[in-house]
Amino acid sequence: MEYCLSNIVYIATSLDGYISAPDGGLDWLSSVPNPTGDDLGFSKFMERVDAIVMGRVTFETVVGFGSGWHYPIPGIVLSSTMKSAPVGFADHVQFANGSPKEIVRIAHEQGFENLYIDGGKTIQRFLNEDLIDELIITVVPILLGGGDRLFGKLGQELTFEFLGTDVMLGQLVKKHYRRKRS
Ligand SMILES: NC(=O)c1ccc[n+]([C@@H]2O[C@H](COP(=O)([O-])OP(=O)(O)OC[C@H]3O[C@@H](n4cnc5c(N)ncnc54)[C@H](OP(=O)(O)O)[C@@H]3O)[C@@H](O)[C@H]2O)c1
Repeated sequence: MEYCLSNIVYIATSLDGYISAPDGGLDWLSSVPNPTGDDLGFSKFMERVDAIVMGRVTFETVVGFGSGWHYPIPGIVLSSTMKSAPVGFADHVQFANGSPKEIVRIAHEQGFENLYIDGGKTIQRFLNEDLIDELIITVVPILLGGGDRLFGKLGQELTFEFLGTDVMLGQLVKKHYRRKRS
């Protein structure tokens, strides 16, 4: 069965391409002053997606925030080690383990067609199976010098077309690309 895929990455990176600081910290994400609390397009993006597919490490970061599941959509947490949700999360997330293709099939079977793919290793695995359709990357003007990288090795080149860019808060550059398939 052929699926109409729409798997979207929506993430912020440092100028040097990291998605977390060397200690795993994310404070740098709010290093640009945002006095009005602008959500920088996040809620609009949420309207485009049906579920978030998130790696276990990113899920643990979300749990660590201590404010519960703050997404308006359900989560599919990928892990080979974590089998049950912490208190307060069971109604929002399910766990899955398998290849990206299998994960997409599991999501589509539940009617989740447009997926938000999150987490460095998770994104890299999806890219390795050419299962990412859009990249929306916000570049924060900071050099972290280390941490978790957004991109890694690929088995093949993947070409994208540039769709547009937004400058937010005068400092953050959001770049939007769509996978170009021949
Ligand atoms: N800058 C941003 O906007 C942003 C966004 C998201 C995350 N982050 C941060 O970036 C870091 C991401 O960490 P990370 O690169 O290690 O990635 P991750 O993708 O969040 O987590 C990796 C883990 O996910 C599980 N996993 C991934 N794909 C799987 C699959 N197909 N099947 C089963 N399990 C799978 C594995 O867990 P097991 O080991 O349990 O098998 C793997 O170790 C975190 O510090 C996070 O807070 C930043």
